[in-house]
Amino acid sequence: MSEDMRYLTFALGKGRLAKKTLELFEQIGITCEEMKDKDSRKLIFVNEEHKLKFFLAKGPDVPTYVEYGAADIGVVGKDTLLEEQRRAYEVLDLGFGKCRMCVCGPVSAKELLKHHEMIRVASKYPNIAKDYFYNKKQQTVDIIKLNGSVELGPIVGLSDVIVDIVETGSTLRENGLDVLEEICPLSARMIVNQVSMKMEAERIKKLIADIKEIL
Ligand code: PRP
Repeated sequence: MSEDMRYLTFALGKGRLAKKTLELFEQIGITCEEMKDKDSRKLIFVNEEHKLKFFLAKGPDVPTYVEYGAADIGVVGKDTLLEEQRRAYEVLDLGFGKCRMCVCGPVSAKELLKHHEMIRVASKYPNIAKDYFYNKKQQTVDIIKLNGSVELGPIVGLSDVIVDIVETGSTLRENGLDVLEEICPLSARMIVNQVSMKMEAERIKKLIADIKEIL
């Protein structure tokens, strides 16, 4: 590595995806030991050998860091990309973190969806919900933004249905809810800042090729 090479910076969403991402990078010879320390409160990690930096951010902020160039590369769920609508190139489907964005609720709400009634939809993803109901289904609905445990919505009578991620389906099952409609499949994606893609084309393309090989 030449001395004047600049760092390539990665923004990873904290939590489930970060662990899988680091495992993936290990397979192509990129390791960052200190990042694995679960008790650490450190936010940024450096790999001097490969001139790489990694930082952990809240998932929904990852596309923001990448759009502004504070990170060259980001790894984040497709749900977040759809919701945040940031400018960046989506270059790879990493194949893990597979799940589905769905409309869920009690079976009794199925009728409300069929007859295009004015219903209440609770979601952590108001933009995805809006796009689905307004543009795709042409149904006017009342969208209520929540920040988690969205399944509570129909249970406590806040909303008729929810728009949320379904992975194993056990959260729905344990709360007496069902998938009523499927919006789209989701998985972890790699995104690249549009300027970085040109300025660091060689390194980034090599990285993408290396990852593609093991996927
Ligand atoms: C996600 C999602 C569902 C659940 C789906 O929530 O919002 O609640 O996982 O997974 P399952 O189908 O395997 O049960 P998360 O755990 O991220 O927490 P949150 O409810 O606070 O958003």
